[in-house]
Amino acid sequence: MLWGGRFDKPPDELFARFNNSFHFDWRMYDADIRGSLAYANALARAQIISEREANEIARGLCLVRDEFARGAFVATPNDEDIHTAVERRLFELVGEPAHKLHTGRSRNDQVATDTRLYVIDACTQMQSLISNLQSSLCHSAAQQLDTLFPGYTHVRRAQPISFAHYLLSFFWMLQRDRERFADAKKRASVLPLGAGALAGNPFSIDRAFLARELGFDRISENSLDAVSDRDFIAEFLFAAALSQIHLSRLAEDLIYYSAPEFGFIELDDAYTTGSSLMPQKKNPDALELARGKTGRVIANLQSLLITLKGLPSTYNKDLQEDKEPLFDAADTLAMTLPIVTGVIQTLRVNADKMRAALDESMLATDLAEYLVRRGVPFRQAHHSVGGLVKLAETRGVKLSALSLDDFRAASEKFDADVYAVFDFDASVQARAVFGGTGAVREQLELAKGSLRSVE
Ligand code: ARG
Repeated sequence: MLWGGRFDKPPDELFARFNNSFHFDWRMYDADIRGSLAYANALARAQIISEREANEIARGLCLVRDEFARGAFVATPNDEDIHTAVERRLFELVGEPAHKLHTGRSRNDQVATDTRLYVIDACTQMQSLISNLQSSLCHSAAQQLDTLFPGYTHVRRAQPISFAHYLLSFFWMLQRDRERFADAKKRASVLPLGAGALAGNPFSIDRAFLARELGFDRISENSLDAVSDRDFIAEFLFAAALSQIHLSRLAEDLIYYSAPEFGFIELDDAYTTGSSLMPQKKNPDALELARGKTGRVIANLQSLLITLKGLPSTYNKDLQEDKEPLFDAADTLAMTLPIVTGVIQTLRVNADKMRAALDESMLATDLAEYLVRRGVPFRQAHHSVGGLVKLAETRGVKLSALSLDDFRAASEKFDADVYAVFDFDASVQARAVFGGTGAVREQLELAKGSLRSVE
């Protein structure tokens, strides 16, 4: 134990279990050891410990890291947290110098340092997993540029669009997600070490040196803020929650596009499961779990925000509750992203079914636009075409089955060339404005370009 001196008896056994965090925070061992390696050097530079002691500490820390990496680290019941465990083991390996390592340092600035290093690595990992999914979407979109299917609003067929345009809509959501992780990383990249318990380090530790050694961009300007601040975790969790929400919305679409009633796409066997009862079933469990796990990632963000709300200044043990939500969100998203990527990579597109789902009423807007091009005010054109839609519906026929006289009765601006409007491809191509479905080729090039220019 690190702090037994002023106590008459050890902690209650149940409380000790309540208090201990080693069973989850051991995962930060690499960050913890990196932090201690840098700190030992800083102590040596400040002549608090000798070069020889610093070298002994470094040698021991590398052995401890190796034990963790090999899964060979043996924890004891007194290992309160990762910081305690590393120091205890270090002492067993190198003796006395280990007991000098914590000079001027507190677990308060230590845990903040470790967690920041962990979050920085997690952001980098998410950025790369997101860009993998983005490149799969680009790859798939490149093959579906001319595949038309119904674009939906309110889950009702609205206007024809290219399936590539649909796929790329998720590319841009993910692009923002990736930017958010890059941004979260910037604010995580601030060195708290040197803040001590709360008031600052008294041993003229070179914090600029520590920041350089550990790869932090900046140094915290206020030691109280340094040990209090968990904003960087909240930002990571928000970025994770929103990313997971985007995956959930994609999953939801793909679940119903792949339902036999739609049949637009088929999910690969590798990402579906069977039913224990009904032999015919092929269920989209991978996507359902991508959707379902969103709840816990959102809850992880909420959990941290609630922990922080109204917390008194500087360090309080409540802050130990920051790590499980962080780890759970990171694990969940890191698992979901490659699975959704796999689903996209193995998706089979049924272009015929997609096209067969287009119906002429989806060109009603194009009919109104035809009139607008002939000088009819849009509101009036909308009304006239509404009448035609109703007429076709009453007769139980397609819009294109109406006679020219029917069209002229609705508006005298209609001519024989009106029948050219009933062309889904032309409707899509007409929407060639920047960002429109008709400009999807240009959009794909932009998407590929922004994937190449990763920060
Ligand atoms: N396990 C603790 C945490 O995660 C480390 C910091 C402990 N600091 C303290 N003053 N008890 O927050």
